[in-house]
Amino acid sequence: MVEDLRLDSLEGVGPVTTKKLEDAGVHNIMDLIVRGPVEIAELTGMDRETAEKIVNKSRLQLVEQGLIAQEFVTATEIYKRRQEIGRISTGTECLDLLLDGGLETQALTEVYGEFGCGKTQFCHTMCVMVQKTKEEGGLDGGVLYIDSEGTFRPERVVSIAKAQGMNPEQVLEKIIVARAYNSSHQILILEEAGAVIKENNIKLIISDSAVGLFRAEYLGRGTLAGRQQKLNHFVHLLVRIAETYNCAALATNQVMASPDVFFGDPTRPIGGNVVAHTSTYRIYFKKSGKKRIARMVDSPHHPEHEVIFALSEAGVVDPEDGTKKKKAPGKKSDVSTEDIDSENIE
Ligand SMILES: Nc1ncnc2c1ncn2[C@@H]1O[C@H](COP(=O)(O)OP(=O)(O)OP(=O)(O)O)[C@@H](O)[C@H]1O
Ligand SMILES: [Mg+2]
Repeated sequence: MVEDLRLDSLEGVGPVTTKKLEDAGVHNIMDLIVRGPVEIAELTGMDRETAEKIVNKSRLQLVEQGLIAQEFVTATEIYKRRQEIGRISTGTECLDLLLDGGLETQALTEVYGEFGCGKTQFCHTMCVMVQKTKEEGGLDGGVLYIDSEGTFRPERVVSIAKAQGMNPEQVLEKIIVARAYNSSHQILILEEAGAVIKENNIKLIISDSAVGLFRAEYLGRGTLAGRQQKLNHFVHLLVRIAETYNCAALATNQVMASPDVFFGDPTRPIGGNVVAHTSTYRIYFKKSGKKRIARMVDSPHHPEHEVIFALSEAGVVDPEDGTKKKKAPGKKSDVSTEDIDSENIE
């Protein structure tokens, strides 16, 4: 660990507090910022004011070291910081076009769609692509894969790596998989991820799926508020980590299919508003026979359009006939009529 990120480099943090923080997965002052004063107070038993002071000091220290941005900044500085944003190419022309070059760091990208639409295949492909050099469209970084559905398959990574002309053994070594068994465990993995991210030069964090466990555990409307609160915590943590560590975050979310809603109608993922409002980018995947459609939904700066891609042994790929569809906002797709319903919460 970098020396000046150590917890005990802060005034007021002694060995006892350091131990308590470390036990709770807070290993350096970056982690202090990510967790925030309320949580730090709860973890250590220190009063809120002290926790605020410590978190504030960490923030100032990180600002001084140029590791995070100041609160009051000029647009020029924001522009500069945005230029530090890395992009991970998807390895396909069509999805790179949709994403304006690839998955962004310092941002959360949510991919939602019905079962079998390719969310997990996309995650596997990105596990390989992030490891490419910058010249080749990657970030030369590792992956933290939070697998909540037990669907991570190293064999798929091997085929994709081979198709990309990469050494499969080396690629597998750089993917750290954490199997989440319940929603609390899923949150815990992320809370403790700071050290793993730094030690392994993680540039991509995947949560597949982000919502599934929460949905399964909090059935019925009676527990909805509790579920949203915990999901909210998870998603915000994911965003803060992506911003703090300059990583790309990729979260998937399943939605149900319904034949009576047209494509282009407002569709909302099962996770509800929490996920939708926090994701920087939302991409909707949809089956269309053997092909797949990806649509960029309400991005702050991408035009709303859709592209066609395919799934193969090599992961997500360009369609064979080279069709790269670009559509004007609100236009109904002529490719397929099946779609998802606008169910928000259940
Ligand atoms: N080796 C392969 N070659 C070609 N296509 C494949 C291969 N492996 C999987 N697929 C395709 O990927 C589809 C499954 O996609 P994926 O598992 O990514 O769906 P998903 O969106 O994650 O679904 P869920 O919501 O159930 O998790 C299969 O239906 C198949 O069409
Ligand atoms: Mg899946």
